[in-house]
Amino acid sequence: MNKKLDTLQQKREQALEGGGAARIEAQHKKGKLTARERLHFLLDEGSFQEIGMFVSHRSTDFGMEKEKYPGDGVVTGYGNINGRLVYVFSQDFTVFGGSLSETHAEKICKIMDLAMKNGAPVIGLNDSGGARIQEGVVSLGGYADIFYRNTMASGVVPQISAIMGPCAGGAVYSPAITDFILMVENTSYMFVTGPNVVKTVTHEQVTSEELGGAHTHATKSGVTHFACANEIAAIQHIKQLLSYMPQNCEDRAPSVPYEAKDETRPSLNDALPENASQPYDIREVIEQVIDGGSFLEVHKDFAENIVVGFARLAGRSIGIVANQPMFLAGVLDIHSSTKGARFVRFCDSFNIPLLVFEDVPGFLPGTDQEWNAIITNGAKLLYAFCEATVPRITVITRKAYGGAYDVMNSKHIGADMNYAWPTAEIAVMGAKGAAEIIFKREITTAEDPEAKWREKEEQYAGIFANPYRAAERGFIDEVIEPSETRSKLIQAFKMLENKVVNNPKKKHGNIPL
Ligand code: HXC
Repeated sequence: MNKKLDTLQQKREQALEGGGAARIEAQHKKGKLTARERLHFLLDEGSFQEIGMFVSHRSTDFGMEKEKYPGDGVVTGYGNINGRLVYVFSQDFTVFGGSLSETHAEKICKIMDLAMKNGAPVIGLNDSGGARIQEGVVSLGGYADIFYRNTMASGVVPQISAIMGPCAGGAVYSPAITDFILMVENTSYMFVTGPNVVKTVTHEQVTSEELGGAHTHATKSGVTHFACANEIAAIQHIKQLLSYMPQNCEDRAPSVPYEAKDETRPSLNDALPENASQPYDIREVIEQVIDGGSFLEVHKDFAENIVVGFARLAGRSIGIVANQPMFLAGVLDIHSSTKGARFVRFCDSFNIPLLVFEDVPGFLPGTDQEWNAIITNGAKLLYAFCEATVPRITVITRKAYGGAYDVMNSKHIGADMNYAWPTAEIAVMGAKGAAEIIFKREITTAEDPEAKWREKEEQYAGIFANPYRAAERGFIDEVIEPSETRSKLIQAFKMLENKVVNNPKKKHGNIPL
């Protein structure tokens, strides 16, 4: 027995060494942690249970049968994060550059299958040179096996991908299908084709970092939801993100204990500038309404004219979607619509109630927007709200103009409670533009056209630049003092906590893509 135990011990020790001391040192020199170190920081102490530690590749070409490492470049298993079960895989760059072999893929698929059967999130820590070049098509097949599972798991269990090294070629499509991507600044990159291919095909000269680094994807493409300063920050972000999500689509969104206190926020009565065309930061409104310090903004530096993120209200998880008057006056455009739509769909998939703050002057005009399909992309946000069955509440702080009024979680498309501040202006368009169109003749034939225009603008504003027309119709359930917002929302979300809506049975909808 002792001999057999020694053998087991030796095998375990060998597996823990990954690709060996020299490669681990090289990994550290790049400012990167190893696959196992990452898991150590991610999971509750002592909770990690490894699966498939001795799996090795089956490849025989290019002398590969002589070069085998137990685990084959990926550490897989399950463990806890703040006491909650998660399934994890962590690619080991020290073994064949973390490249994906047939068996490496099988290990990932195994934990994904377990996650689906047992209803728990999957977290992938990616650090890989892509398809195992020595294996050819079986490696490509392995990727496809993962993509298929990512898609089947979508909307069933939360899936989070952290990119902590290279992630290139078709490999990017696994993270892309998952719910959230986090990238580490300066040590990770994602692209379908790298700088060399780009140079050959388009003659553009670009570095890996410029082409597909964390900053690029956090600001230009929106591929990543979070750009993190280092790996530890990324791991902390994963834990925080997870704290707002349920284990699976049949679970309730988590709540933390909360003791009721005075919920009025008098300072909100002064949150808006005197002049309705002045910007303000909607984040300051959000911060005053939610539980202190609970806001986790998603896609912070991308499409900044809409703010989305998770928060807690009286301890319960909620998802927030808010127009941002500080940026492009809060208009809806292509990127803000897709950003909002994806977030709404995530929240709806996982039973996270939605809170919308609305201050939107409309959709962004221009050839760039029209030619790049603002019609199709704007429809995504509309569609996402229409089909969402979670509790949904809107607060109109100021402008709710045109089609954007309908899109931003209006009563007509299924919102449960619609509040407006007394500063709300709910109309087809701003008073100035409206007056110019409907009183064109009177303005142009007037002795003083400017004065006539102002008079008509005031007349139109008097009728529509307020929330009362909408409230008379019941499109607004209540006009509230800003200071009451938090208390109204806490009560309304509590009232809605057992909401059940069943959309018509169908195979799946056909969201405009
Ligand atoms: C096998 C690989 C590998 C791969 C790296 N290695 N990538 N082995 N298959 N794809 C090995 C190297 O041989 C080396 O082994 C070790 O990993 C570390 O690699 P280095 O090149 O020394 O590291 P570094 O300088 O940091 O460069 C990392 C890298 C580079 C940029 C990722 O290795 C690289 O360009 N690799 C090839 C990337 C690639 O073209 N992959 C296929 C993409 S197509 P030793 O023994 O020296 O430590 C693809 C299709 C997916 O992935 C399709 C899905 C549908």
